[in-house]
Amino acid sequence: MGKVVIMDHPLIQHKISILRSVTTGTKDFRELITEIATLECYEATRDLKLEEYPVVTPMGNAVGKRIEGKKLAIIPILRAGLGMVPGMETLLPAAKVGHIGLYRDEETLEPVEYFCKLPSDIAQREVFVVDPMLATGGSAIDAMNMLKQHGCSRIRFLCIIAAPEGLEALTKAHPDVDVYVGALDDHLNEAGYIVPGLGDAGDRIFGTK
Ligand code: PRP
Ligand code: URA
Repeated sequence: MGKVVIMDHPLIQHKISILRSVTTGTKDFRELITEIATLECYEATRDLKLEEYPVVTPMGNAVGKRIEGKKLAIIPILRAGLGMVPGMETLLPAAKVGHIGLYRDEETLEPVEYFCKLPSDIAQREVFVVDPMLATGGSAIDAMNMLKQHGCSRIRFLCIIAAPEGLEALTKAHPDVDVYVGALDDHLNEAGYIVPGLGDAGDRIFGTK
């Protein structure tokens, strides 16, 4: 059974509050997404397995510890997930990066796939899927389906803001996935936007509106 972690760290709450503000411009928005992604990554890597190895210090021998296996992958859901990649890479500089392209049909809110390029050995990797927004959950559920079709069995999902509806749908569809949420908001509106949320994450990251 996967776990659901709602971040209660003061730095994350502080930064998400600035991110939400309609007065926050593109430059600050990008920087905040990066910082929040790094903080969430720290929490989401807490249970990575370690292996011991010998280290010689100037004073003698020590038992060193390193991440076992080191086979990790960061998978942003395009477009908005791209904004979280630099923050993830800060802590996981050697991780491979794959891309899943999905957009929501504005009428049906159903995700439409338009791109999928994954590391060739993705089935052997621990996967960190990133997308700032979990609204209906359709995009995240679809991304997990695609990854499982490629043989992935250890998947974590990191988002910045989630709606209760999306969180419930995702955990029901993929109960084995660990989900890390920066803030759990109130509800979805009739257009499928998270309230209070932050608006359209992709448009705010890339300045397209
Ligand atoms: C946004 C967001 C998620 C999706 C969440 O992407 O980045 O991928 O919506 O909604 P859902 O949970 O209801 O599926 P969008 O479709 O706007 O595409 P974009 O990132 O390219 O702007
Ligand atoms: N996608 C966004 O970018 N924002 C929302 O509130 C919902 C989906």
